[in-house]
Amino acid sequence: MSSTPAITAPKSDIVPAAPPPPAHVAIIMDGNGRWAQARGLPRLAGHRAGARAVRRTIEAALAHNVGWLTLYAFSSENWRRPRDEVSDLTALLRHYIKSEIAELAANGVRLRFIGEAGRFAPDIQASLAEAERMTAANTRLNLTIALSYGGRAEIIAAARLIAGAVASGEIDPATLDEAEFARRLFTAGMPDPDLIIRTSGERRLSNFLLWQAAYAELIFLNVLWPDFGAAHFAEALADYAGRERRFGARPA
Ligand code: FPP
Repeated sequence: MSSTPAITAPKSDIVPAAPPPPAHVAIIMDGNGRWAQARGLPRLAGHRAGARAVRRTIEAALAHNVGWLTLYAFSSENWRRPRDEVSDLTALLRHYIKSEIAELAANGVRLRFIGEAGRFAPDIQASLAEAERMTAANTRLNLTIALSYGGRAEIIAAARLIAGAVASGEIDPATLDEAEFARRLFTAGMPDPDLIIRTSGERRLSNFLLWQAAYAELIFLNVLWPDFGAAHFAEALADYAGRERRFGARPA
């Protein structure tokens, strides 16, 4: 038996180490409609103001050296909105890509789109592909925009690919693991989000990154998306810094 007494700190003295800053922040941009309604404006005015908040958010991510930013801009379910609003949103998207792409490219931003791009008009599909191609060599910020995106649809699409690979003998079901499955998701090659922010006070994921959110920290802010800016981004990072991430393990 050793004569040196074991040194054990009382539990209350053990301060968990702050996690490193989030490598990947994902945002559910909610509240454009309510922002417009509160001002007696059409919903389109809310979406336009939302696009300006997107710009501020990209600037904030660049300023904080966040390497990955994913924005939920249009869900699979959004196609069920009134036809006028869907066409306003797609027109805004068309305009946004055209007007912002050069500046994004110049700032070292790499653009990716996840979702069912094939549901958009051919000219939009072409401009999405062109934006990805133009920025493919950039590394400062990986900006992913989720368009016609749904987490369940994404998982089903991956399951179909896996089923095909099993049928052709490329994959043995007995050895299928999470990494192999994740390689078939829209987000293949991307890190999982560390932090998911949702604006507008709603507290749900709404089919966003269901697989990838397994261990994400969630922050719900009582601000409507068009009012979101650098201070809210910094507030969310500060809140995240105070979280203890255990990924299901017990603290040492
Ligand atoms: C949710 O607010 C927002 C959307 C469905 C669209 C998001 C679009 C933008 C932020 C602007 C365009 C973005 C890009 C990348 C060009 P809501 O309409 O559901 O608001 P509500 O819940 O208050 O009605």
